[in-house]
Amino acid sequence: MRVIGFASGKGGVGKSTIALNLGLILAQAGHKVVVIDADIHMANLGVLLGVETNPITLHNVLKGENSIHDAIYEGPYGLKYAPSSLSMDRSGLELGKLADAVKELSDYEFVLIDCPPGVGEDAEAALAASQEIIIVLTPEPSSLADALKTKAIAEHEGANILGLVLNMTLGDKTEVQPSDLATVMDIPILAILPEDIEVRRASATQKPVVIRSPASKFVAGINILAAKLLGKKVVPQPKPRKGFLSSIFSFFSRLFSGGKR
Ligand SMILES: Nc1ncnc2c1ncn2[C@@H]1O[C@H](COP(=O)(O)OP(=O)(O)OP(=O)(O)O)[C@@H](O)[C@H]1O
Ligand SMILES: [Mg+2]
Repeated sequence: MRVIGFASGKGGVGKSTIALNLGLILAQAGHKVVVIDADIHMANLGVLLGVETNPITLHNVLKGENSIHDAIYEGPYGLKYAPSSLSMDRSGLELGKLADAVKELSDYEFVLIDCPPGVGEDAEAALAASQEIIIVLTPEPSSLADALKTKAIAEHEGANILGLVLNMTLGDKTEVQPSDLATVMDIPILAILPEDIEVRRASATQKPVVIRSPASKFVAGINILAAKLLGKKVVPQPKPRKGFLSSIFSFFSRLFSGGKR
């Protein structure tokens, strides 16, 4: 079993979209996969799948009312998913139960945890439940600065940080360049995903982009990510050169790594 958390400091960078569509690709390839919506305050997974009425959710599990197995449903391609509740009621939730629930999922090859953004208790619990972490970010300085905080917390929780996914790239010169990321974060880049209108269209129609637009550029990038996770050889991406933002962000980097670097 591999338990991989998709984390970010900044919200709205694409964690849920990436975790769900990656899960679908792995499930379609015959792997046993469950995606867990650990964003207990802003549940999204059910909405992305067009299912808003799952009777038992992760909330019931974190309240100790149900086992995680009761909160798992079947999605497209045989993908399993555990949604969070859309309800505003947060009383009685014990975040520490998430890690215990994940331990019960040893039947699965991949447990993908869609983590909440930020550095709050909910994000920490999701990071603590993950063995491996993929940090998702967009090519903006604020996203990079926040990703450094996520990296620091993930390291503190003892998770293995697998790499970065740079999402919503436009290929513009003003964007944070992969070279900046590689030097500042000191983490390998697993995939660079473009800003793709097909993702927005899929989201608007509550259909995963892998199903609605399998030939899109975004899906091509997710396929590369899936291949890397499965240890398959992929065409290497160009080695990043040191970018002009590196010096600015080495400051942040030192700050959030407790002066280690
Ligand atoms: N590569 C992309 N191109 C275009 N739109 C994208 C891309 N990736 C994600 N989006 C869109 O960006 C929005 C935010 O994506 P998503 O909900 O997956 O982010 P998130 O990191 O899970 O957000 P949150 O932090 O709120 O949980 C959605 O409307 C999604 O459709
Ligand atoms: Mg999300």
